[in-house]
Amino acid sequence: MNLARRTMNAPALAAVYERVWRPTLFYLASGRSTGADRRFAVDSLRLGSARRVLDIACGPGNFTHYLSEHVPADGYVTGIDYSPPMLARALADNAGPRAGYVRGDARFLPFADGTFDAVCCFGALYLIPDPLVATREMIRVLAPGGRLAVTTSYRPGNPFGELTRRTAAVSGLRMFGGRTFPDLFAASGLVDIDQQVHRFLQYITAAKPAAGAAEQRGGHPAASNRGV
Ligand SMILES: C[S@@+](CC[C@H](N)C(=O)[O-])C[C@H]1O[C@@H](n2cnc3c(N)ncnc32)[C@H](O)[C@@H]1O
Repeated sequence: MNLARRTMNAPALAAVYERVWRPTLFYLASGRSTGADRRFAVDSLRLGSARRVLDIACGPGNFTHYLSEHVPADGYVTGIDYSPPMLARALADNAGPRAGYVRGDARFLPFADGTFDAVCCFGALYLIPDPLVATREMIRVLAPGGRLAVTTSYRPGNPFGELTRRTAAVSGLRMFGGRTFPDLFAASGLVDIDQQVHRFLQYITAAKPAAGAAEQRGGHPAASNRGV
C-alpha cells in the first residue's frame, strides 16, 4: 500500500480531515473553498429530484451529510468508503436521518445496475489503483436519467504538468490529463458532459440519458469543456 493510501487509513487523519486537512489542501490545489465545492455538488447533481444518491469514497461523510440535507424528504444518501477510521468518523460526525454508510471498494460496488439517481466521487479517483474501473462502476450504478459528478486531479498539458505528475507519483497520487474523464464518459454514452478546471483539480459532470432517449436522439453525445 502506498503512502497516500496508508494516510487515508490513519485514524489521526480521519480525526482532522473534515475541519483541517480537506479545507487546506483542496484550497491550495484548486483555489476553491469547501463551501463552493459543496454547492457545486448540490447543483450539478440536481439533488432536488434525486431520491437515491451514492457518495463514493465518502471519507468521514463530509459531503454525504451535506448532500442529505438537499435531497427530497423521502431521499437518502449512501456513503461508501473502504477506510474503517474514515467510516467511524462518518458515523460519529455525519450520520443523519437521510445519510448512512457502508464499507466497500469503489472498484466493486455492491449495488445493482441503475440503483442511484445521482452518483458522485470527490477527491478520491487519484488514490484508487484502478481509477477507470471505479469510474465505470459509477456509471453502471447510475440510473437512466441520473446525474454524475467527479472531482479529481488535473495535470496541465505542459512540462510543468509532467513535473507535477512525477512529484505526485512519489506519494502514490495520480494526476489525470484533461481528456481522460470526458472521453470515457462520452464513450460510455453519457451526455451533457461538462468540465471545469481549477488549478490542479478538475470538476466533471455528466448525465445518463433517460430510458429511450438514446434512440430518439441518435448521433454522438456532445461534450463541452471549460478552462482546459
Ligand atoms: C481524500 S478522501 C475524500 C473524502 C471526500 N469525498 C472529500 O471529497 O472530501 C479520499 C477517500 O477515498 C477513499 N478510498 C480510496 N480508495 C478507495 C476505494 N478503492 N474504495 C473506496 N474508498 C476508497 C479513502 O479511504 C478516503 O476516505
